[in-house]
Amino acid sequence: MNSNAQRPRRLRANPILRDLVRETTLSMNDFVYPLFVHYGTDLKREIKSMPGQYQLSLDRLLPEAEALAKLGVRALLLFGIPEHKDERGGGAYAKDGIVQQALRLLKQSGLPFYLVSDVCLCEYTSHGHCGLLSPEGKILNDPTLPLLTQAAVSHAEAGADMVAPSDMMDFRVAAIRAGLDAAGYADTQIMSYAAKYASAFYGPFRDAAGSTPAFGDRRSHQMDPANAREALREMQLDLDEGADIVMVKPALAYLDIIRQVKDNCRVPVAAYAVSGEYSMIEAAANLGWISRERVVYEQLTGIKRAGADLIITYHAPYMAQILGGK
Ligand code: PBG
Repeated sequence: MNSNAQRPRRLRANPILRDLVRETTLSMNDFVYPLFVHYGTDLKREIKSMPGQYQLSLDRLLPEAEALAKLGVRALLLFGIPEHKDERGGGAYAKDGIVQQALRLLKQSGLPFYLVSDVCLCEYTSHGHCGLLSPEGKILNDPTLPLLTQAAVSHAEAGADMVAPSDMMDFRVAAIRAGLDAAGYADTQIMSYAAKYASAFYGPFRDAAGSTPAFGDRRSHQMDPANAREALREMQLDLDEGADIVMVKPALAYLDIIRQVKDNCRVPVAAYAVSGEYSMIEAAANLGWISRERVVYEQLTGIKRAGADLIITYHAPYMAQILGGK
C-alpha cells in the first residue's frame, strides 16, 4: 500500500471536519413556500393528499403568514382557488381576483415576505386547461397570451414582487415582459417554469387547486418526461424572451435536467419539489417507514447539489423548524 495514497475516509472522521468540508448546505434563504388561497371565509382546510398543507381563506391568511414569517419562511408562491370559473379563466386576471386580494393583504400587512405569484389559467377555467380552447377542444397558444399578460400585470399591481408563469404556452415570457414593462413594472422579475414536464407528480396539487382538466391532459404543452435536450431549448427561448430565473419542475425525477440547465445558462435556476414529491415523503414518514427529517434534508440537499439556487418546497416551514429559522 502506498503511504501517500488518498484516504477519503480521513475527511469523514470528525463531525466538525465534516461540517467544514461540506459542499452543499441548506438555509431558509433557499426556499419558497407555496400557499393556496381559497374563496370563502373562516376556511383552513387540510388538503387530503397533502397532509400538513392547507387551503386558506383570505381572513385566515394573515395569521398563517405571521406564523410563517416568525418561523423564518422568507418567500411565498401564491396560488388561488376562485369561487367562479369560466371558459376564459376570468378570475386569473380580475383586479379583485383571489390572488390579487391575497397579494394586497400580504403587501399591506408589512410582513417581510418576498411575494411570487403563479400565472396560469388552469385554476380559473371551467375546463381546467391552462389556455383558451378552440371549439374542438384544442388549447390555443397565441389567443391565451394577452390573458396571461393581464394576469401578470394585475398581480404586479396588487403587490407581487415576481411573477411565475406556469402555463407553458410558447412566447408567454416575451408577452408578459412587454406587458409588465408597458404598465410600469420593468422591475418586476419573471421566474419562468421553463422546463415543466407533463408529470404525474402534480396529482395532489390538482386536488389542492381544483385544476384537474375536465378532459384530456397537458401533454400538448407540457414537456415529455423522456426529453432532456428539449429542456435546454425551452430554457434558451425563455432567456431570450426575458426570463430572470428559469425553473425545472418537478425536481427529484429531473435532477439531470437541473444540472444541465445550470451548466448551460448564467441566470439563477429554480427547482420545484412538487406536490407528489411532498406527499410521497409524508405518506412514508407517517407510516414510520422513513425518517422525515433525514429524507427531507437529503432530498433538498440533492436538489441543491444538482444545481438549484432556489427551491420551491412544501417542506419550507418544516425546514424552518429543523434549521431553527436560519
Ligand atoms: C399550473 C401548475 C401546476 C403546478 C403548479 N402550477 C399543475 C399543473 O400543471 O397541472 C403543480 C405544482 C405541484 O404539483 O406542486 N398552474
